[in-house]
Amino acid sequence: MNRLTNNTLIAAVWTLAMLSAPAMAADTPPYKVADGNKVDAQTLSGWKTWRSMACERCHGAAQEGMVGPSLVNSLRVLSKEEFKTAVLKGRIEKGMPNFDTSKMVTENIDNLYAYLKGRSDGAIAPGRLQEMGK
Ligand code: HEC
Repeated sequence: MNRLTNNTLIAAVWTLAMLSAPAMAADTPPYKVADGNKVDAQTLSGWKTWRSMACERCHGAAQEGMVGPSLVNSLRVLSKEEFKTAVLKGRIEKGMPNFDTSKMVTENIDNLYAYLKGRSDGAIAPGRLQEMGK
């Protein structure tokens, strides 16, 4: 193989790898869970944020929905960006408060998403969680 073909091949493989990287990332769950209630530290922080903010008083303790919609259903449909916008900006006129003034929420928005995605996927059980390996 001559040098030019070789370089072209390397470039093609590299381009393919870059193109498929985001797709692969999207397929990887944003949480780790074992036995339904043992999660990684980030997901645990997400759950703690959920509890501290008492999201459950409107969305239900198992995210099943009350005055607010079922987040088990919502997270099957919402993109991560749509989720972040809904939680941070709120939908004040529809009864969803904005949480962008909460340091805990802004710092844990990815963790909150990971926790709720795990609940929506049915991978994480409702209720108390503990950190894996502790
Ligand atoms: C005071 C009640 C209340 C609280 C507290 C509350 N929500 Fe909501 N939430 C709602 C209502 C009502 C809606 C539906 C708004 C609409 O009709 O678009 C909603 C919508 C949402 C949505 C968008 C759902 C969708 O399908 O578009 C998400 C995500 C969400 N809430 C997450 C949270 C999280 C996370 C918390 C805690 C940090 C929280 N909510 C706290 C009432 C609440």
